Amino acid sequence: MDKHAIILAAGKGSRMKSKKEELSKVSYKILGKPLLKYVIDALKEAGLDDLVTVVGFGGETAKAIAEPHSKVVWQHEQKGSGHAVMMAETALKDAKGYTLVCCGDAPLLRSNTLKEMFETHEKDGNDLTVMTAIIDNPFGYGRIVKKDGRVIKIVEEKDTTVEEKAIKEINSGLYIFDNQELFKALKEVKTDNAAGEYYLTDVLGIFVSKGLKAGTYVVKDFEETLGINDRYQLSVAGKILQHRINKELMLSGVTIEDPDNTYIAPDVKIGADTVIRPNTHIYGNTVIGEDNVIGPDSYFEDVTIGNKNEIIYSHMVETTVGDLTTLGPWLRTRKNASIGDKAHIGNFNEVKNVNFGVGSKMAHLSYVGDATIGSEVNIGCGTIIANYDGVNKFHSDIGDHAFIGSGTTIISPVKVGDYGFTAAGSTINLDIEDHAMAIARSRQVNKEGYSDIFHDKALAKKKNK
Ligand code: UD1
Ligand code: CA
Repeated sequence: MDKHAIILAAGKGSRMKSKKEELSKVSYKILGKPLLKYVIDALKEAGLDDLVTVVGFGGETAKAIAEPHSKVVWQHEQKGSGHAVMMAETALKDAKGYTLVCCGDAPLLRSNTLKEMFETHEKDGNDLTVMTAIIDNPFGYGRIVKKDGRVIKIVEEKDTTVEEKAIKEINSGLYIFDNQELFKALKEVKTDNAAGEYYLTDVLGIFVSKGLKAGTYVVKDFEETLGINDRYQLSVAGKILQHRINKELMLSGVTIEDPDNTYIAPDVKIGADTVIRPNTHIYGNTVIGEDNVIGPDSYFEDVTIGNKNEIIYSHMVETTVGDLTTLGPWLRTRKNASIGDKAHIGNFNEVKNVNFGVGSKMAHLSYVGDATIGSEVNIGCGTIIANYDGVNKFHSDIGDHAFIGSGTTIISPVKVGDYGFTAAGSTINLDIEDHAMAIARSRQVNKEGYSDIFHDKALAKKKNK
């Protein structure tokens, strides 16, 4: 059977109390990933590819997240969840098979749960399956009303009778419908209820009255269906996801010393025997190999790291690292940096748009930007590559086995040949041939006894004041 899905993401999210009109609730992030993207990924993992996302409030931000993966339709006025689903009709009116409807603000949903729900739907031969939960405090939720063991309707909190209020089986807001019957039934939904809205939940009663088969799928872990309505719930879901991700990594062979204080985004991959030390943040499309020691206090975003590296107290973005390097403490890399095998970059260095060669070393206090550094190069303390003249950026090349003396300033563009050498304190603005040494500083002059004369003069001046 064909499977489709509608994600409801038009809601205002007023309990977020944001002053930013343009911000959709589903664009709030957990571990660097928007809520809506969690839902989209869970659906895709469950084998659903034909997605329609209904956007409204802050629709442009929601659309930007959804668009690469999903069709997007607009609900300009919020007339209820049934009305929101009607907006998807243009996209799905000719579709056959099943349509899942879910909310874009529920990031804890697991793909396995969806798969199980589809299995139940097919096994029971349902035309509609609603995901339900049995909870102690059902207040606020739609109640599942049954007759002779079969669900016959859903009643919203505002519309419940005293007996219905006592029902503990609730509607968790996820449904699988026969697609064609869904849009037919929606045409019969009315707004004669306490909220004056088009309730999606009324579709269930309409199905039953037409003799179509409605059933339930009771979710095992109610937590998975939790929607985010305010920033407190955002943090609660964030903690749940953080632990879920960390646990999975630990069970796959990664040591995480302090999972409470380690933040790893859902799409990050880490190999076995890597140790993640406390207070480390790993975001984006980061891939880390095996047997590394990472952290403490480090931040990685869109970084690829090989095996057997040691990286401490560092901040790295858009960087590739080979194997067997030692990096940090306090290294910053950004924008297309690449560090070769066995390199060593020590404390207080910044590296940007650089190819740093195999076995090269930069122990302390340097800035290297827009450059190619060969292999087995030694960059002395306090080296600066002056790559920017206020208008343009320039590139420099440092050859293999070059030795850059401490305190060298290289004014790009410059090419230093293989085995090139710069004397400490030099300011280099001309190319250096292979095996040559450059000294570019004024010659030292020593003045005998001048230290005392200088000191006495200074003292006298101070007394006369
Ligand atoms: C809904 C269900 C309720 C269920 C609960 C589970 C209805 C009528 N009721 O109630 O039975 O127990 O979810 O959480 O559906 N939306 C739009 N456009 C609208 C209105 C809503 O896109 O015009 C979206 C919301 O953003 C949300 C979803 O639809 O994602 C559900 O709507 P909401 O108003 O939150 O319904 P609940 O009162 O929570
Ligand atoms: Ca809700």
